[in-house]
Amino acid sequence: MSNLDGDVSQNGSLKKVDALRALAEIEEFDFSRSLDKPPRTLNMERQRSCDERSMNELFGVPSPSPRPSSRAENNFRLSDHLDGLYSPGRRSGFNSPRSQYWFETHPSVAEAWDALRRSLVFFRGQPVGTIAALDNNTEEQLNYDQVFVRDFVPSALAFLMNGEPEIVKNFILKTLRLQSWEKKIDRFHLGEGVMPASFKVLHDPVRNSETLMADFGESAIGRVAPVDSGFWWIFLLRAYTKSTGDTSLAEMPECQKGMRLILSLCLSEGFDTFPTLLCADGCCMIDRRMGVYGYPIEIQALFFMALRCALLLLKQDDEGKEFVERITKRLHALSFHMRSYYWIDLKQLNDIYRYKTEEYSHTAVNKFNVIPDSLPEWIFDFMPVHGGYFIGNVSPAKMDFRWFCLGNCIAILSSLATPEQSTAIMDLIESRWEELVGEMPLKVIYPAIESHEWRIVTGCDPKNTRWSYHNGGSWPVLLWLLTAACIKTGRPQIARRAIELAETRLAKDNWPEYYDGKLGRFIGKQARKFQTWSVAGYLVAKMLLEDPSHLGMVALEEDKQMKPPMRRSHSWTF
Ligand code: GLC
Repeated sequence: MSNLDGDVSQNGSLKKVDALRALAEIEEFDFSRSLDKPPRTLNMERQRSCDERSMNELFGVPSPSPRPSSRAENNFRLSDHLDGLYSPGRRSGFNSPRSQYWFETHPSVAEAWDALRRSLVFFRGQPVGTIAALDNNTEEQLNYDQVFVRDFVPSALAFLMNGEPEIVKNFILKTLRLQSWEKKIDRFHLGEGVMPASFKVLHDPVRNSETLMADFGESAIGRVAPVDSGFWWIFLLRAYTKSTGDTSLAEMPECQKGMRLILSLCLSEGFDTFPTLLCADGCCMIDRRMGVYGYPIEIQALFFMALRCALLLLKQDDEGKEFVERITKRLHALSFHMRSYYWIDLKQLNDIYRYKTEEYSHTAVNKFNVIPDSLPEWIFDFMPVHGGYFIGNVSPAKMDFRWFCLGNCIAILSSLATPEQSTAIMDLIESRWEELVGEMPLKVIYPAIESHEWRIVTGCDPKNTRWSYHNGGSWPVLLWLLTAACIKTGRPQIARRAIELAETRLAKDNWPEYYDGKLGRFIGKQARKFQTWSVAGYLVAKMLLEDPSHLGMVALEEDKQMKPPMRRSHSWTF
């Protein structure tokens, strides 16, 4: 098999690959290399910046604040005109000195680090990612033996927070390399900018060589391209830059081009009347048919986050400038649309309940012709007096009122949600604790769909039965997103409560992928054990709580220029 990979810096002439052909050549990946790597015990004490100090004051953490390193200062060119791109992370592993006086260390933390290091995947001697699950007890591997882009995000954050940025850099460069492959499903070519859902390292023991194999959706169940991968890639590039202060990676022409290619895919003009992105079912974390086709919140929030990160990372050269203008316009429209039409609280629910239909012209209040009878029964009880959230989907005559955890957390972190909306989301989580957290954080979607609706919406998917997997299952990976959102909104006690719950079981249960049941009491029917993002999600949550200054890596402050729309009651009645 030909050599499919090399250094980005070498030559631009990557060998094109017919991914389908390559698929047939999948061989078992040799993990021995990753297993015998000794865990690194870096003791890298790094520096803190002003915004971190104020965070610490908020959380009552004593602040040792040395000055940022001069290397970082010298490197800082890309965004020195932009607010706060660089705020270095610091060592905050389980044996961090600061944990002793601020955050009680739990034995699960050491176990988690071991599990995370065992999941490392090496390519030609370098760590390039983490395997989705290291469950040796399941016969059926499916694609859990691959490095998923979305799954690697919490791993990457854990390594960055622990002062180990190299693996993140390797991952960013390797996936960038994969982006330039020719991507084809049957006879159809995918857009140039599409990033893979996952990749794996193929080891040829005869030739003693290694090659990479990527999946852009052509072997995924349902054959859907991962719309989220490119957004997560941009998010990680910014997290890396923010945490290390090393702007040279983002400044590489290859990275700038990679970003532009991703952006071109989602900023292209078409027949759209909304600034949101139109997607197929299964194009994100929920990668099976679950009725999320249309304009799902997860993708819209990630899109918003990626656009904002790209604004910070794009160079202001001729090509970059053009994108900056397009991004700015889109952000403006997107935030208006999302804050106005996806937001629901008691008042808005009442307004929809009283909607008139068949309104024509721009004076319409019920712009999308949503029929009040389509309001599901459960929402009337679910909606608290204080609180609100972004609903799952909005399109003509369709509002999906389900709660989606990832999208709402990303909305808070990216400041797609206004400060008031962010507070309201937290209020909702607190008042609907049993439903959204229960005995194991956190519900990926609430509520589950069942019976006839389940048959119609999922196509009778036996993996997505009610309160299981994507259909109302509880996913520990979501802990890091909740924790980050809690810290951003000044409510760390909510995260602490959720983490304590998870800690009672996660390690004992061998880090399942998900839990089943209304309260998340049962290990998921088909859940993998040693699911890496469950491990990493827990670690990141712990490190964020221990050292809230890490928040800067994953969150963006509100952009004052993006004015919130008029108050809800007005925006619907003009
Ligand atoms: C499942 C999840 C998906 C995840 C993959 C690997 O397919 O739905 O979000 O990326 O497993 O863990």
